[in-house]
Amino acid sequence: MKRLLTICLLMTMGVLGALAQGENYQNDAIKNIMTRTSIRKYTDQPVTKAEIETLLKAGMAAPTAVNKQPWHFVVVTDKAKLKELAGNRGRMLEQCALAIVVCGNLEKAMPGKAQGYWIQDCSAATENILLAANALGLGAVWTGVYPIDERVEAVSKAVKLPEHIVPLCVIVIGHPAESPTPKDKWKPENVSYNEYGEH
Ligand SMILES: Cc1cc2nc3c(=O)[nH]c(=O)nc-3n(C[C@H](O)[C@H](O)[C@H](O)COP(=O)(O)O)c2cc1C
Repeated sequence: MKRLLTICLLMTMGVLGALAQGENYQNDAIKNIMTRTSIRKYTDQPVTKAEIETLLKAGMAAPTAVNKQPWHFVVVTDKAKLKELAGNRGRMLEQCALAIVVCGNLEKAMPGKAQGYWIQDCSAATENILLAANALGLGAVWTGVYPIDERVEAVSKAVKLPEHIVPLCVIVIGHPAESPTPKDKWKPENVSYNEYGEH
């Protein structure tokens, strides 16, 4: 009973914290950005096909260098596959409704020195998906893969990626079973005006 009360209290604090974080912002899009936080515990409520498509459309709405759209998204809903993807991600992958493996497509990427822009392109897509998930009331977390060779290898094997498709990250998604307070990361000292160190 005491444990249940503590959980309820923590959840209420989480919701109040999230509200407090967003309350200064009138604009819905800004509020969505400021209230997004990583969610790593999920209920067993399924995520609909329409919601998944919205997440993917949000991902593909991201900007990319020279509009190359050098990406591929692998949606994983199969429980056995999710377990295979788990690696160091532990129980998250057992609870979640789905995961999206965000990959770079090196055949669509910029040539030569600019090839590495695929990482930024796919990162922009990833953040768009996280924000769309928050807007839909879903919980999600970015889990890193690239540039750690062993993770790239393990994820590529699990979802059978060809050589030219490189996994950047695995986004784990589901209906939230926790409501942590979004972190306040505003640090004016991390900003300069006109010249480094000028505040
Ligand atoms: C490149 C990258 C890799 C990450 N990898 C992991 C991961 O492997 N496991 C995890 O639980 N969270 C991972 N995260 C989520 C971060 O831990 C989280 O974003 C950070 O602590 C800030 O918290 P917030 O998302 O709630 O603002 C990763 C985030 C990024 C951007």
